[in-house]
Amino acid sequence: MARDAGVSQSDEGLVLERVAKSFGRAGRARQAVSDLDLRVDHGRFVCLIGPSGCGKSTVLRLAAGLVKADRGSVQLFGEDVALARREKRIGYVPQSPALLAWRSVLDNVRFPLEVNRNAPVSPTRSPEELLGALGLGDVLHRHPAELSGGMQQRVAIARAFAFGPSVLLMDEPFSAVDEMTRESLRHELLAVWQADQRLVLFVTHSVIEAVVLADEVVVLSARPGRVAARIPVELTRPRTAELEDSSEVHAVAREVRGALRAVTEGSR
Ligand SMILES: Nc1ncnc2c1ncn2[C@@H]1O[C@H](COP(=O)(O)OP(=O)(O)OP(=O)(O)O)[C@@H](O)[C@H]1O
Ligand SMILES: [Mg+2]
Repeated sequence: MARDAGVSQSDEGLVLERVAKSFGRAGRARQAVSDLDLRVDHGRFVCLIGPSGCGKSTVLRLAAGLVKADRGSVQLFGEDVALARREKRIGYVPQSPALLAWRSVLDNVRFPLEVNRNAPVSPTRSPEELLGALGLGDVLHRHPAELSGGMQQRVAIARAFAFGPSVLLMDEPFSAVDEMTRESLRHELLAVWQADQRLVLFVTHSVIEAVVLADEVVVLSARPGRVAARIPVELTRPRTAELEDSSEVHAVAREVRGALRAVTEGSR
């Protein structure tokens, strides 16, 4: 299948086992995550939600191989995450788009292709195609400062997809945009994702967003973060904007809110 092109044929996607991570000096260390088990299979879209400061970004950075676990293991496709990172199989979208101000929209999206010429996975779509799919076909030659916040987020998403990574890690990519833009961004993301269904781990604070996007919503406990609940979302795909107001979405959202309430009250 296209989504497995160039990657190990292991069934395992992303697997974090008994992971612990603390920050700061010994004696005054702050435990960010502890005893965390998380598994995301190939082709699955999983959303991570939890109280502020519970360790969501830390989980993403561990999964990206950007920070190293103190204990436990982080594996991608049956191998240590450091290897996947070296082989450029991971696309990471940080909370702020972090575009290169001096490069045009198109050259921002081309950037990972230029620096990762030896990436094992060949992109399935060109930067122009990705930008077109995200509604940016008319602004290819503009610079980031000339774009709205929502447009910049779209560029960051196109850039993460550009080199055809096997895994996409997104840290609240839509937090800085207004509600209506956010709603259209998530459906644009779904449309781009639907084409080749990479493994996605997506952090959000929005319950509805988590339900509309995900195959499974994982709720983390208050710090130190560990998995408190896993809620499957069995809504058919492709998911449309109309679905947002449906009773099915609201029923799952209620369940997620209940789990969030339990972890928030449990930490008081
Ligand atoms: N580089 C770091 N140095 C020191 N402490 C850190 C670092 N990164 C995270 N922490 C601490 O680890 C804990 C978890 O932080 P993290 O950013 O993972 O939480 P979060 O769930 O993403 O929060 P938010 O919802 O506010 O984005 C916090 O107490 C934070 O202060
Ligand atoms: Mg965070």
